[in-house]
Amino acid sequence: MSRDPLLQPYSLKHLTLKNRIMTTSHEPAYPEDGMPKDRYRAYHEERARAGVAMTMTAGSAAVSRDSPPVFNNILAYRDEVVPWMAKVADACHEHGCAVLIQLTHLGRRTHWNKGDWLPAVSPSHEREAAHRAFPKKLEDWDIARIIEDYADAAERMKAAGLDGIELQAYGHLMDQFWSERTNTLDAPWGGSLDNRLRFTHQVLDAVRQRVGDAFIVGVRYTADETAEGGISPAEGLEISKRLADSGQVDFLNVIRGHIDTDPGLTDVIPVQGMKSAPHLDFAGEVREATGLPTFHAARIPDVATARHAIAAGKLDMVGMTRAHMADPHVVRKIIEGREDDIRPCVGATYCLDRIYQAGDALCIHNAATGRELSMPHDIPRSETKRNVVVIGAGPAGLEAARVAAERGHKVSVLEAAPDPGGQIRLTAQNPRRREMIGIVDWRMAQCAARDVEFRFNTFAEADDVTALSPDLVIVATGGLPHTEVLSEGDDLVISAWDIISGDAKPGASVLVYDDAGDHAAMQAAETIAATGAHVEIMTPDRSFAPDVMAMNLVPYMRSLQDKDVTFTVTYRLRAARRDGNRLIAVIGSDYIKDLAEERVFDQIVVNHGTIPMDELYFDLRPLSSNLGAVDHDALIEGRPQAIAANPDGAFQLFRIGDAVSARNTHAAIYDALRLMKNL
Ligand SMILES: Cc1cc2nc3c(=O)[nH]c(=O)nc-3n(C[C@H](O)[C@H](O)[C@H](O)COP(=O)(O)O)c2cc1C
Ligand code: SF4
Repeated sequence: MSRDPLLQPYSLKHLTLKNRIMTTSHEPAYPEDGMPKDRYRAYHEERARAGVAMTMTAGSAAVSRDSPPVFNNILAYRDEVVPWMAKVADACHEHGCAVLIQLTHLGRRTHWNKGDWLPAVSPSHEREAAHRAFPKKLEDWDIARIIEDYADAAERMKAAGLDGIELQAYGHLMDQFWSERTNTLDAPWGGSLDNRLRFTHQVLDAVRQRVGDAFIVGVRYTADETAEGGISPAEGLEISKRLADSGQVDFLNVIRGHIDTDPGLTDVIPVQGMKSAPHLDFAGEVREATGLPTFHAARIPDVATARHAIAAGKLDMVGMTRAHMADPHVVRKIIEGREDDIRPCVGATYCLDRIYQAGDALCIHNAATGRELSMPHDIPRSETKRNVVVIGAGPAGLEAARVAAERGHKVSVLEAAPDPGGQIRLTAQNPRRREMIGIVDWRMAQCAARDVEFRFNTFAEADDVTALSPDLVIVATGGLPHTEVLSEGDDLVISAWDIISGDAKPGASVLVYDDAGDHAAMQAAETIAATGAHVEIMTPDRSFAPDVMAMNLVPYMRSLQDKDVTFTVTYRLRAARRDGNRLIAVIGSDYIKDLAEERVFDQIVVNHGTIPMDELYFDLRPLSSNLGAVDHDALIEGRPQAIAANPDGAFQLFRIGDAVSARNTHAAIYDALRLMKNL
């Protein structure tokens, strides 16, 4: 038997959890019609099969109709949820994985314009900054019906065969009662701590009456809001003890912080560049004070930190949630002694930011996550061995090489630069985003283990490719910054990449014109502002950096707001002209046709995506059997590509990633996986 602390079983009430690793609840926004259907089940089953001991399903599954789904949550207030959850539970139980679900009422952390258009409710009229609904202040009849709703939902989950539930109490209705920041009710629901906890105790009473003593019931809650006037660490510890003393709670899942603002949320769930495991010691203090089984997750992305959390007695179960989105097979790889093979979570938090933007949760560099029904996490071997040549070692090319090598093909990669990584290498220039290089390093290690041949400093031309007698050629040459967007003066501007790479020295007064809305402009602005320069970030869009998204914007704003930086939205840079050693920016607007304001800067940076480097592709096209064509139906349905438009062609040819059009890292990697898994 293994002596690894992470692999020791743990007894939670009557349940034996087979190891110490869990995924905490995280709504990936995969429900269909509010129900966890096949996609949802396949997602959890993949993790269960690979050995995770416990999965806390859902995230904020709604107990009431006036808790409308804020990111496509499971509707636990509907009876039809029972058979769907039963299928999820059965599938995971089959692999010895315990299944619980997080239930909640969101209170003010939602919006009335969703679901049934019922008013949001809260113990005060104050709105939450992040979701912006002004809530109705709860009446006694609201409180009574919501308590019943919790009990009904818990009963449904027991009927579905789950092992237990977790009540959410950070940023949601339950702790909106607890905190004096959000509770302005009079007694018996507001005022003293006893009164503020009354709702929770009544929910626990009602739930226990329905599900009995054996069913597992826990609370995931903030034990320190880290906000003025909010729950202090002392009050949080008192709440922890009272939950323990109630005798109705089987585990505590500790959170530190508040989530009503983007910066608050980002401190609770830190993104890349922020400290690892920042709240682990605090969770350990709660465990010590209460003696209750204690769980916790907050940027414990690697096995070593998780092992420390258990070995040092800080936690009973360690949450590795995003780690499992990046690699659902974490536990299996630990058991097999293959920790080095674990695809690292690089903290990009593309996953979480997407759900707040009404998308589904996708991992920036694992395109199979959330697509288990169509994309493999383990690449199947090909029956025939092919000679594959990949041109370009950016994220798309490296993923193509990795997947081709796992298929068992012979793979050669030609790259013009001295190092792999493409745009990711530029991104990683920012110390805060250095972890992004893990996307490259992991693929290089996977390729090395499968004898992929790399030729760097090789600017491939068609002859270099054909000399390798390929069966299959993948052009992943990426793109170059596209700055030629002005009516006059394109030659006077530089690209965001010029700044990020260090090729251009920042000026003293700089216009960063961002027509793409992605990281490059913000990263360039951060580099320039750090020199003490004045920076104006201008965009023709309604808001700046829309593709950076909420949590990823936080570190940029923390870096920029105390510097000489201004933000201008809805204006368009039309032209640039030289004026001595300075530059005149001619600024217009999509709203007012003839607006033409002139402003002086000494440097103008343009971020407008990339233009594909496609020369090699077009040179190779006539030599290929498919003339570069992609059968989209076959691609989407997971069949091999079979277009044979040119009988004289010697190889199949495809291009992927930014060599096709400017997109993002996830799109580049998905292009590669989706194509290569069938070739
Ligand atoms: C896509 C996504 C959705 C999440 N939704 C919820 C949620 O509904 N309820 C909750 O308590 N936590 C939610 N979380 C937070 C996670 O449970 C966890 O606390 C967080 O990801 C930090 O742990 P990690 O660093 O191991 O990922 C979510 C996280 C992700 C990535
Ligand atoms: S998107 Fe980033 S943070 Fe989210 S799971 Fe993937 S690597 Fe981790």
